[in-house]
Amino acid sequence: MPKARTIFVCRSCGATQHRWAGKCPDCGEWDSLEESTFDASATKDPQRGSVVIEGKGGLEAPTAVPITEVSKLVGPSRRFPTGIGELDRVLGGDERSRGLVPASVVLVGGEPGIGKSTLLLQAAGAWAGAVRARTNKADWAGRVLYVSSEESAEQVRLRGARLGVAESDTLFVLADTNLARIMEQAKRVKPDVIVIDSIQMIYKADLDAAPGSISQLRRCASELVYLAKASGIAVVLVGHVTKDGQLAGPRLLEHLVDCVISFEGDRTNDARIVRAIKNRFGTTMELGIFEMTGQGLRELPGGASMAAMDSDGTPRRGAVVCPAMHGSRCVLIEIQALTATGFLGNAKRKSAGLDSSRMGMLIAVLEAHGGLRLADRDVYASSVGGLKIIEPASDLALLLAIAGAHYKRALEPTTIAIGEVGLGGELRSVSQLDQRLHESARLGYTHAIVPDIPGAKLPKIKGMQITPVKNVSRAIEMLS
Ligand code: TYD
Ligand code: MG
Repeated sequence: MPKARTIFVCRSCGATQHRWAGKCPDCGEWDSLEESTFDASATKDPQRGSVVIEGKGGLEAPTAVPITEVSKLVGPSRRFPTGIGELDRVLGGDERSRGLVPASVVLVGGEPGIGKSTLLLQAAGAWAGAVRARTNKADWAGRVLYVSSEESAEQVRLRGARLGVAESDTLFVLADTNLARIMEQAKRVKPDVIVIDSIQMIYKADLDAAPGSISQLRRCASELVYLAKASGIAVVLVGHVTKDGQLAGPRLLEHLVDCVISFEGDRTNDARIVRAIKNRFGTTMELGIFEMTGQGLRELPGGASMAAMDSDGTPRRGAVVCPAMHGSRCVLIEIQALTATGFLGNAKRKSAGLDSSRMGMLIAVLEAHGGLRLADRDVYASSVGGLKIIEPASDLALLLAIAGAHYKRALEPTTIAIGEVGLGGELRSVSQLDQRLHESARLGYTHAIVPDIPGAKLPKIKGMQITPVKNVSRAIEMLS
């Protein structure tokens, strides 16, 4: 007889504890531990210490084969491209074949209302050949089962009509929340791809727990993982990331799935970013950039600006735009800073979306080489638009934002700043300067402050004035 043991699982981070506590010792969330029993004979994931529930029985026992023989057994693997370039690149692959890997499980997480259903319905339509029919871009079309656990089939059709995917006859829609019935339909439809939107509403009837609870979420997800591995169907799961902890979060599933994709953005801004957090079949460096429009998400294959354009000529003190690289993509991000009266010896340094130790270093450089006195000033800085920026190439923009906030001065409108700052106050070269400058010029910026590197040739870009600057104090002089 398997031994049943009681454990406590955190709804937000998925860590397991032996004792109940008011606050999760791993992630610090309050009142997030939920009682759960598990079969002590189930395997344990050594990395996270959490429980992996094995799929149901009936899987043929695998045998060991030489690695050279594996492809002969399963045939050549082929990715399922969507033809939506921004999404395919994030899913990974090379020029010949990008997209979803058969038999893989992808988890797409994001806040409610950010556009997950829109993205996945567009992708489902694309997998089913809707994009191919329109643009001749993707050479693959398969059968897709879109399971909506939150909307009715008619609602999905209405949304699909707006997104231009309602004409595809290989796109099947199922509005159901019962896992057994979903499996039943999957057997009938025989899809290549199943999209489950969202996994948190799916329940297994023989489990005595509410939909959205930890045990339902884990059990349903692991059965779907089993389905993917056993049948070769690619499964895409949508998971809401909620702050209030009403639903168990998708982080609980991260170790179960092959690929975790996060869909980010600000509801007040149209730009949306798709990013892989974990990817067993590709890099996690790549970004996909979209814009939310009336017809769904539109790709922005060049670069994107998350910055408010300052072309109306009003100087914005303490705000500097920086072209940051994410994988092969350039994104213009606005860095804002504010200084306020603080206490000597106890001045606050707070940053959001930036590297806080880097900010501390830049404040020291400003004091030593820029002539600012910040010892009794609180300094706050953030990257606008919710995209994290940690590359040293953004040093100069952050430094100028702090100096601008302190002196109440600003750069000329439509100016970008780029450069790494050394401890000696010198500006150092950055990678991919050409691409950053071209992208900034394309997005309407007319002036760039870049590091002055002896012997380096600066690119010539039409409509962009490039000012090379040697050190921090020269850069601060550019503020007016
Ligand atoms: P949705 O995909 O429902 O978000 P999620 O599934 O992540 O909760 O999309 C939410 C928002 O997207 C909604 O408030 C309206 C907007 N939207 C558009 O702007 N254009 C569109 O074509 C669609 C379908 C949605
Ligand atoms: Mg949705």
